[in-house]
Amino acid sequence: MGDGLEFRLMSALIDDSDLSAVPFGMTGGARFLRACLKKPVDRPPVWFLRQAGRYMAEYREVRKHHTLVEICKRPDIAAEVTITAAEKLGVDAAIIFADLLLPLEPMGLDFEFVAGEGPHVHHPLRTVESIDKLRTDRAGELEYVAAAIAKVVSHFGDSKGIIGFCGAPFTLASYMIEGGSSRNYIFTKQMMYAEPYAWQKLLEKVFTMQVAFCKQQVDAGADVIQIFDSWVGSLSVEDYRDYVLPVTTRLIRAVQAMGVPVIYFGVDTASLLPAMRETGADVIGLDWRTPLDEGWRSMGYAGAVQGNLDPITLFAPEPILETRVKQVLAQAAGRAGHIFNLGHGIVPGTPVENVQAVVRMVKEHGPKYALPTVKGEVKHG
Ligand code: CP3
Repeated sequence: MGDGLEFRLMSALIDDSDLSAVPFGMTGGARFLRACLKKPVDRPPVWFLRQAGRYMAEYREVRKHHTLVEICKRPDIAAEVTITAAEKLGVDAAIIFADLLLPLEPMGLDFEFVAGEGPHVHHPLRTVESIDKLRTDRAGELEYVAAAIAKVVSHFGDSKGIIGFCGAPFTLASYMIEGGSSRNYIFTKQMMYAEPYAWQKLLEKVFTMQVAFCKQQVDAGADVIQIFDSWVGSLSVEDYRDYVLPVTTRLIRAVQAMGVPVIYFGVDTASLLPAMRETGADVIGLDWRTPLDEGWRSMGYAGAVQGNLDPITLFAPEPILETRVKQVLAQAAGRAGHIFNLGHGIVPGTPVENVQAVVRMVKEHGPKYALPTVKGEVKHG
């Protein structure tokens, strides 16, 4: 990664051999990008999945006046929501406020978010004919996300890393086929097994769309792209390898070729991690069910990792929360390439002050774990 490429955050690429340059004067953006590239940092960078959302009063206030999709389509509001959350929490990176399902509309699939139920696709894909009709030539309609990214970049400069994102082929296809959230992914797996032509065609179309969508986000200044494969943990490792890994690898490589690192995230992925690592993603997002060191070890400590506090720990009394935060830091053990995060998104009702407390704890305790690496006392795995 990076050779001959222009990073927005050039300060992140300061010379590794000068370790004294590492602990001082590092911006949040540089800290985050360096960790993605597995370079030493003064402490692990920290941000949170779903850091802008319903748990935050400011977001709920905006939501009183606009639907979720309206917020996404208005770059001024999407940028404001992104900025407010990142500033209120004091995190090192801001993920653009958008949604995984936005590409469905330009592809020709209408959907809505039904209160209390989640997404609802009006005509789920069940036939080859319906897949043949999907369009891949209207990614330009998603430029509102790039416009919001440009605003966030100009607001934060290099003080924070800016994360763009998109859905991975399996997870996005599962919404298109099931029509919404699912427990057993029966229609998705049925198509995967019984209609290989339809399945390949669908993944190919999603791939084409997501490459174009990510390119817009990178051109607008996104420093890193996170690819959400939230529901990939529903697959056995054999099915993952046979039906999902090749196209996902191509998407990740295509985004890396745009000059940015990729974070590849899924939930319930303990058995999939070594295969997910084969995609070549710079960072693998870990859920909380596997201890961070076990997950990282299962991938031979190759690449960087992000995670992995249980999001529901944010409802625990502060001493317990602090113990758990320190455990995650201890498991990372100061190795280069750890980004502190949750194992999945913040849920509604989470006390904001507890999220802020985690940031404080990572800032306070993080350096104790990171510094030995800088001094060379901890062996890189
Ligand atoms: O700061 C942030 O992270 C918020 C930006 C963001 C949203 N969606 C806004 C949103 C991000 C990164 C997403 C990604 C997303 N969307 C994923 C992958 C992340 C994950 O959790 O694994 C998925 C699976 C979706 C699809 C989606 N969007 C669902 C299933 C739902 C309903 C969930 C629910 O709790 O109701 C949404 C709605 C949604 N997207 C909300 C937000 C803040 C909440 C609903 C609202 O504000 O009306």
